[in-house]
Amino acid sequence: MYICSCHAVTDGAIRKAVMEGGIRRFRDLAKSTGVSTQCGICGKHAKEVFDKAMAELPADQREPGDAAVGKTCARPVTLLMEPQCSNCSNCSCRK
Ligand code: FES
Repeated sequence: MYICSCHAVTDGAIRKAVMEGGIRRFRDLAKSTGVSTQCGICGKHAKEVFDKAMAELPADQREPGDAAVGKTCARPVTLLMEPQCSNCSNCSCRK
């Protein structure tokens, strides 16, 4: 189901970004997908989907910043916008 019609972001894409992509902050999700960055109408619903996905993660993987350090970069996740990983300091895709 589309959550953000401005950037064609689905609930599945949000869940995938969290579950497989290492996204741990909503602002990083917004940077990666564009969700809630144009008209903003989708923001509340997108945050709900994001929060649900975060709640499904094991507790030790919910913290931003350290989950991806030394692990696989989030970049392989298929995102609709230019991927921007901010979860590790060594990532070559960091902008
Ligand atoms: S519907 Fe998501 S920014 Fe407009």
